[in-house]
Amino acid sequence: MSLALDPAAQDLLFREAHTANTFTDEPVTEEQVQAIYDLVKFGPTAFNQNPLRVTLVRSAEARERLVPHMAEGNRAKTATAPLVAILAADNEFHEELPALFPAFPQAKDAFFAERPVREGSAALNAALQAAYFIVGIRAAGLAAGPMTGFDAEGIRKEFLDDDHTPLIVVNIGRPGEGASYPRSPRLPYEQVFTTV
Ligand SMILES: Cc1cc2nc3c(=O)[nH]c(=O)nc-3n(C[C@H](O)[C@H](O)[C@H](O)COP(=O)(O)O)c2cc1C
Repeated sequence: MSLALDPAAQDLLFREAHTANTFTDEPVTEEQVQAIYDLVKFGPTAFNQNPLRVTLVRSAEARERLVPHMAEGNRAKTATAPLVAILAADNEFHEELPALFPAFPQAKDAFFAERPVREGSAALNAALQAAYFIVGIRAAGLAAGPMTGFDAEGIRKEFLDDDHTPLIVVNIGRPGEGASYPRSPRLPYEQVFTTV
């Protein structure tokens, strides 16, 4: 009763949604990915910095280059998912800031002149955007299999450059046979929240 979101949507996004480890052959289209992004791009980031950059691994040749960089246990599902996305943080996001945060265009130089500061901020805010993206995948009626089990330096060299840090690789598609594990417990409210 306390939530404004329709109960069916609550189930789709969270209660019934699971991380997927197997997928059907049904392709994930460019239109679906664009619709997901055009929804979740409205999720907030600090100074509206939008540091997430996504590489869609669509060709068989690119998939072959990606799989060896995944941890052993992640290789089979990364090889067979209909679509795989490499989610990365752009450590040079500040170049876009004057356009993205017109209310305070000086933010670029005032706060983000130093690369280590940008790397920290990009990692946090791109991770937030990655979370929005996962929920957006569920909103499209698809399932996500996010993974951090990979050789980040290997993926960076293979697909990105020095200015981008790979954060999460996400398998995307419709869940296949035995796609998910039984739900593991979540921490209860009382253990997570403190009121002062
Ligand atoms: C950031 C992130 C990294 C993950 N890395 C891996 C991974 O490398 N390999 C894997 O099999 N599962 C990975 N998972 C899946 C988690 O174990 C799974 O999402 C979690 O146990 C919840 O499962 P559920 O959605 O079925 O409740 C990852 C999940 C997230 C969000």
